[in-house]
Amino acid sequence: MYSDNHMHEIVVKRNSSSRKRSRDGLKSHITTAKKRSSVTSETCSTVEGHPYTQDMSENKGTELCCSDNEDLFEGYDSIVGDSSFLAKLEDVELQMRQCHDQQTPNACEDDLSDSILAEDFRDLTSRALPSSQLEFQKAVTTPHKSPSRGAHNTSTPDLVNPKPAVNHADLNVNKPPPKARRSMKDHLKKVLIDNAATSSTVSKTVQQKEAVMTEEMSFAMRAIESISAEQDLGPFFGLPSKVKDLILILKGIQNLYEWQETCLSLDSVQQRRNLIYSLPTSGGKTLVAEILILKELLCRKKDALLILPYISLVQEKVRGLSSFGIELDFMVEEYAGSKGRFPPVKRRNKNSLYITTIEKGHSLVNSLIENDRLDNIGLVVVDELHMLGDGSRGAILEMTLSKILYMSKSTQIIGMSATLGNVGDLQTFLKAENYTNDFRPVELKEYVKIKDSIYEVDPREETCFSFSRLLDFKYSSGMQKMDPDRIIALATEVIPQQSCLIFCATKKNCENLAGMICKYLNKEFLKHREAEKATLLGELKSSGNGSLCPVLQKTVPFGLAYHHSGLTSDERKLVEEAYSSGVLCLLTCTSTLAAGINLPARRVILRSPYVAAEFLKRSQYKQMVGRAGRAGIDAMGESILILQDKDISMAKKLLSAPMEKCYSNLLHDGGRGLLSLVLSLIGLKITTTVEQVRDFMKGTLLSVQEAQVSPERSLWDLTVESIETLKQKSLIEVSADVNNQTILQITRLGRATFKGSVDLSCCDLLYRDLSKGLEGLLLNSFLHLVYLITPYDMVHQCKPDWMIYFRQFTNLSAAEQKMATAVGVPESFVARMAAGQSVRKSMDILVVNRLYLALVLYSLLKETNLWNVSDRFQLTRGFVQTLLSSASAFGSSVLHFTEELEEFWAYKALLSELTRRLTYCVQAELIPLMEVAGVMEHRAKQLYNAGYKTLAHLANADPQILVQTIENLFKRQANQIIASAKMLIKEKAEALQEEVDDLLMLPSDLPSL
Ligand SMILES: Nc1ncnc2c1ncn2[C@@H]1O[C@H](COP(=O)(O)OP(=O)(O)OP(=O)(O)O)[C@@H](O)[C@H]1O
Ligand SMILES: [Mg+2]
Repeated sequence: MYSDNHMHEIVVKRNSSSRKRSRDGLKSHITTAKKRSSVTSETCSTVEGHPYTQDMSENKGTELCCSDNEDLFEGYDSIVGDSSFLAKLEDVELQMRQCHDQQTPNACEDDLSDSILAEDFRDLTSRALPSSQLEFQKAVTTPHKSPSRGAHNTSTPDLVNPKPAVNHADLNVNKPPPKARRSMKDHLKKVLIDNAATSSTVSKTVQQKEAVMTEEMSFAMRAIESISAEQDLGPFFGLPSKVKDLILILKGIQNLYEWQETCLSLDSVQQRRNLIYSLPTSGGKTLVAEILILKELLCRKKDALLILPYISLVQEKVRGLSSFGIELDFMVEEYAGSKGRFPPVKRRNKNSLYITTIEKGHSLVNSLIENDRLDNIGLVVVDELHMLGDGSRGAILEMTLSKILYMSKSTQIIGMSATLGNVGDLQTFLKAENYTNDFRPVELKEYVKIKDSIYEVDPREETCFSFSRLLDFKYSSGMQKMDPDRIIALATEVIPQQSCLIFCATKKNCENLAGMICKYLNKEFLKHREAEKATLLGELKSSGNGSLCPVLQKTVPFGLAYHHSGLTSDERKLVEEAYSSGVLCLLTCTSTLAAGINLPARRVILRSPYVAAEFLKRSQYKQMVGRAGRAGIDAMGESILILQDKDISMAKKLLSAPMEKCYSNLLHDGGRGLLSLVLSLIGLKITTTVEQVRDFMKGTLLSVQEAQVSPERSLWDLTVESIETLKQKSLIEVSADVNNQTILQITRLGRATFKGSVDLSCCDLLYRDLSKGLEGLLLNSFLHLVYLITPYDMVHQCKPDWMIYFRQFTNLSAAEQKMATAVGVPESFVARMAAGQSVRKSMDILVVNRLYLALVLYSLLKETNLWNVSDRFQLTRGFVQTLLSSASAFGSSVLHFTEELEEFWAYKALLSELTRRLTYCVQAELIPLMEVAGVMEHRAKQLYNAGYKTLAHLANADPQILVQTIENLFKRQANQIIASAKMLIKEKAEALQEEVDDLLMLPSDLPSL
């Protein structure tokens, strides 16, 4: 029935629309990997590309459907974001087609095969569709559906092998679909058939064709509107089934725990009220938060903010969620260390998930308030909500949440924690509901060991402990002396087959204990995963550019390692990965591991109830023992706290005490938090009068806890005092408005201070140092600039070794020495100190120490070898690395500070480059690779040497090849690296595209006649 001409005509139209579409697609999608992949895969997942064309020309036999397509999900972004009509037309058609094709078994195979995890997805296809999905399919194919879903019922004929038109005509006669549900293609086809019938005699005019197209356009637009107004996208808590599949593939989680289902179905969640949920450690809190985040991004089309307490956690989450972002088409943006843009890039077509540290989260919220964009954040999730009680970081978190509560009524706040003693206070603060459950997927048995007896902890018992067993061990007399606590006996009950974590009070303890244990271990331990341990040692050595930690060199062959902040982040990462994969079976560690990344163990041993010299707090204890029991691996987990007689009574209190309470920290450290909160409120114009500041303060946690935290002085007095202090420091000033009302305004210095998140105690000093610096800025080396961004708060953590200081000083060029003298450290002074002579002249020790740290940083910049620099300055490599990351963070603070002060214009370009160099501090060629979350220097080097030299190389890498060519890289990590690289490229490309769009946009206020 179709004439060749018509066929040709329609194909040409398709192709032209496809071209347009693919160009549009480029705006938001990187499809290079897809382009290289097979035809089959190309057809299926490039919905934003041009699957239709592909399907017609190359992919005749391929099923196009995926089980999720009934969710209207695949076209989701393109429908919302694309202004091209033809593209929309295609999307609508495609969805209809997909819906039709869903009835084909195993249909999701092809669609998912272009996934970043193609292989795993293929595995999925062998199993039957989940019942929820089948139910959903049934639901969409039965009558009484919403118009947009109803549209799925229509079939989409194959244009390449058109069936006789009469069939379609019959179909239409027998079952005329309601107009709103009619397939776009059916409609077009009908027009074509009509055309064909008349074409032999009368040719359609261009105008007539256009009229048909116009009608179709308005139909398509109506369909599109009804689709985008719809919030639920599918059967999985309103999300498409694809999300469920991704959770299985990317996280290995098949079914939600019952509590997770309950929590997600709570009224408060459904109605988007604020919520705090608390469950024991390892209860699976993260997944609930992630599902809620996805709902916000995909169903509500709002941005989301996830606040985590540590940079390492942010990196881990960015890596893990980037794969979701790639598959589900949203942005994942990292805000940690010196990463993150303020305000964030506006994304017109996509929503963003910002994953931030507490500090960066605050700056991000400030920048959104300043740009009147806070309402774009639909959801804020705070993990480890008890951090509100953690010193100055707690204060920052409180400021962030208070501002969100005050400024955006539509932003939902969700907090989670395992260790909350006074959830009521936090509920009042956040106006939140509470959900608690004591579910733990793996039973945790808590024990203590006193002498050679093990007791089970039972706080209900009068004695708190009930006898469990005698420890079975056969020690030589040497061992008895070396290991009086019988730690080897406790550990060898589980290792090497199962894993063990031993928490120690100090870093030195960790190293000594690991060394001691392996001295007495049976030689059989050496054979367990011998080759992998040898590889690990090689990796550790090459991460240190040939240097290997002598302790690890001894312990790793036995499957043991220590883990604390004295290790470089590369070493920590290697140790963590080896432990996770079972190559290492025992880690000795400090308490920081408990709150950091997720490294569970079959048995957790607490070597003593102390952290440094302090007796354990209940929450610390809970976090540590909470690591015991690996979900899905162990049937149960055990913790054993080793007690000496003197600690027994304190330990009983510890074990039966309620969880510590979490108190506001705005008054911590002389009320610094309160001061900087008031400053930023005025800076952001959130409040402009004293009364408004007071009003704001009523919404803080401090206000809720006023009686406990500040029994003597009222919050009102404290607020007025803060305002006075800020005035005295010239950070704010008072003026009068037209009604003679007193108005609070920020000064230039005040603005720079809060924009740079500079501590109020050092903003004057920073201003002075930068001003002085301008007088004779040394620019033929980095030393002067490095000095200016050496963080003031690190200065007290390190005392100079005068001999080293002197040696380094004499190595400086004459110009550098002159600069050192100008800032206040003359060579004669350092020489006298090195010689042990007294110095009569009083020196500013802050300046002297700061220059010493600047020399450390300067050495690092010059040679980029952490180990050499640590050796040269006799500092631990962990400290040097911390110094480096603090300097790069402070560098970006100083940069923002100077941007607000005209007189410092010259610093802007200089500091941007310096901060970038400090952030990575590696050979320049590795920098692009290290932009990928969690790719450290060592991994970057491996990748670079294997030929992956740019982000594009990584984004298009084949995970199989990566795993085979990069030592010690597991499939999951390879996938995460690829997904993160893809996400970064996408981010960069979109930012450029936004810029182009902005440039080309016609100004709305363009003068006209
Ligand atoms: N429904 C589930 N089925 C199987 N495993 C799950 C499920 N939900 C979560 N998990 C797994 O349980 C482990 C612990 O989960 P998660 O990290 O969310 O714990 P948490 O409650 O946040 O604990 P913590 O307080 O220690 O941070 C993770 O490895 C996670 O993948
Ligand atoms: Mg957690």
